Amino acid sequence: MRETAFAERLIAWQRIHGRHDLPWQVRDPYRVWLSEIMLQQTQVASVLAYYARFLQSFPTVAALAAASQDEVLALWSGLGYYSRARNLHRAARMVVDDFNGVFPTTRSEIERLPGVGRSTAAAIAAFAFGQREAILDGNVKRVLTRVFGIEGHPGDKPVENRLWTLAESLLPPADMTAYTQGLMDLGATVCLRAKPKCADCPMTVECVARLEERQAELPTRKPK
Ligand code: ADE
Repeated sequence: MRETAFAERLIAWQRIHGRHDLPWQVRDPYRVWLSEIMLQQTQVASVLAYYARFLQSFPTVAALAAASQDEVLALWSGLGYYSRARNLHRAARMVVDDFNGVFPTTRSEIERLPGVGRSTAAAIAAFAFGQREAILDGNVKRVLTRVFGIEGHPGDKPVENRLWTLAESLLPPADMTAYTQGLMDLGATVCLRAKPKCADCPMTVECVARLEERQAELPTRKPK
């Protein structure tokens, strides 16, 4: 598929079929960051109530930095993966101490915060600042390996590097919020691991996995 066609179709699809009612669909980088950390290993439905309660207690990065670790962990209690909460607290202190209380505005700076990898930093840069940065989480790897017929286990470095290069080549000139949200929404609601809803997918006529009926084989599983 032409690279521009992928982004154009994804953005058009997102505007009609994507999610528009999520509370973290805002520009405030602190709120975007908090949501992305909560969503790293937890589903949207479980995150919603925690996200609301967390923001009531800590409406700003300064409020979070000023809290004790116990207060932060208490609000995280039940979400699991508690290193996320400890990193979040450390990161808030870093924003206050190292960035003068102003949330960093570039992917490379955001990536210095503990708990924030390349894809999470890119999502924050795209959602909060509209920057042209590529995301590549598990859902996106599934979409890209299927649509473009990328072989090999996505956890293998050479395959992952290829996927990063592909993800960057697909970025639209503008509309980064709709594009990034669309990629997440397509992976979460249509390009499902089992029983993907290919009839609902904007890429279906050109998707390599669909055309070759290899949806069950892509992405390639980890070799044993
Ligand atoms: N998963 C990770 N980030 C997300 C987001 N911004 N919206 C919905 N699901 C997500």
